[in-house]
Amino acid sequence: ASNAMWGGRFASGPAAIMEAINASISFDKKLYAQDIAGSIAHSEMLAEQGIISAADQKQIAHGLNTILSEIESGTFEFSTRLEDIHMNVEARLAELIGPAAGRLHTARSRNDQVAVDFRLWVKAEALRTAEALKKLIAAFLDKAEEHSETVMPGFTHMQTAQPVTFGHHAMAYVEMFSRDLSRVRDAIERMDESPLGAAALAGTGFPIDRHMTAKALGFREPTRNSLDSVSDRDFALEFLSLAAICATHLSRLAEEIVIWSTPQFGFVRLSDSYSTGSSIMPQKKNPDAAELIRAKTGRVNGHLIGLLTVMKGLPLTYSKDMQEDKEAVFDAAETLELMLAAMAGMVTDMSINAEAMKRAAGSGYATATDLADWLVREAGLPFREAHHVTGKAVALAEARKIGLEELPLAELQKLNAAITADVYSVLTVEKSVQSRTSFGGTAPEQVKKQVAYWRERLAKA
Ligand code: ARG
Repeated sequence: ASNAMWGGRFASGPAAIMEAINASISFDKKLYAQDIAGSIAHSEMLAEQGIISAADQKQIAHGLNTILSEIESGTFEFSTRLEDIHMNVEARLAELIGPAAGRLHTARSRNDQVAVDFRLWVKAEALRTAEALKKLIAAFLDKAEEHSETVMPGFTHMQTAQPVTFGHHAMAYVEMFSRDLSRVRDAIERMDESPLGAAALAGTGFPIDRHMTAKALGFREPTRNSLDSVSDRDFALEFLSLAAICATHLSRLAEEIVIWSTPQFGFVRLSDSYSTGSSIMPQKKNPDAAELIRAKTGRVNGHLIGLLTVMKGLPLTYSKDMQEDKEAVFDAAETLELMLAAMAGMVTDMSINAEAMKRAAGSGYATATDLADWLVREAGLPFREAHHVTGKAVALAEARKIGLEELPLAELQKLNAAITADVYSVLTVEKSVQSRTSFGGTAPEQVKKQVAYWRERLAKA
């Protein structure tokens, strides 16, 4: 049998394989609520503009609401023959209310219909992402506040560089996740336009009111070019981009958690609820959640590249290629939500081993820069020369297998006569972090200031 929607032009129906490659209902049924909301708004506008009768509109809206409850109660029968969510809903509407159903698609195409459905879905998902990010940031702010004075090694090249505080390290992630949050807000702002009423591609001759449907669906305004309206998937690409960047931040953090939780580092201890054991090695406590967050980033990043590649060759306006936009976004969104929630839980539950952090911060000559700075400040040496003298001190300490602060004063004075006992006051890791008072530096007072700043800013975000 030929298709009920375009049977006028077709003598026979599709091959089974054609149906299989063409159908999207298995995944775009996720858009049912948006599709029905879009259709109700469209029908109300058509009636308001005198394009359909008020009586027909009432029947349409009633039928659509029935379908909504059928889908939500699980009694709706989705059909692959009917290709996608739009035709599944419309076909059922015809069953329910008869000929009036056929008036719903006046001044509309599936091209603007899918564009509006998908935008509504992505917009709602972006709002959920924002909430999940805010929870994660709150978890970090608490940790940062609690550990504004907890000293740990800061690394470059994965080698101990200078002492920092764990609070400062935590606040670095607050900066990253707050940028992610602001990217979500920006993306929502840009996607907040309704494509409904662009029709197939050229607009319509019916006297529709696009401002009315835009408002009814919660959009700021209608889009301004009908061709762009049905071709544009930037909103999906932007969502995937921000998801990929956010996932990448989560992955770097996950990597740090994996390293920190090793017995060798022992900086953090994961709670039992966020780790797993080994079936053979009884001593093991594995950071699986962190590892999976790190791994799932590959999936999210892959979806961005996938959709960019789908879109890059498409001439204006709609091509069926664009049906491939949905699974990428659905999976990226679901994956990112899970990653954010798992990370928030893991960070909240994780305990910090301040002892181990401090011990590590003190090894590896992490206060060498403080010694050089002291020579500049107190002995008037040019920094380059101070660097040289300090290098000799490190070599000496290393040869004797002791810390810088354990070198006898007489030995230090052999390297530079101006050195006094006062130098020992900067060689401890606590003194080192306390001295980094520049704006954005690691000194506890700076960290506390940044925590207060973000708490206030996020209350409004
Ligand atoms: N299922 C289609 C999609 O997701 C809906 C739009 C179909 N439009 C068309 N002209 N075939 O893209």
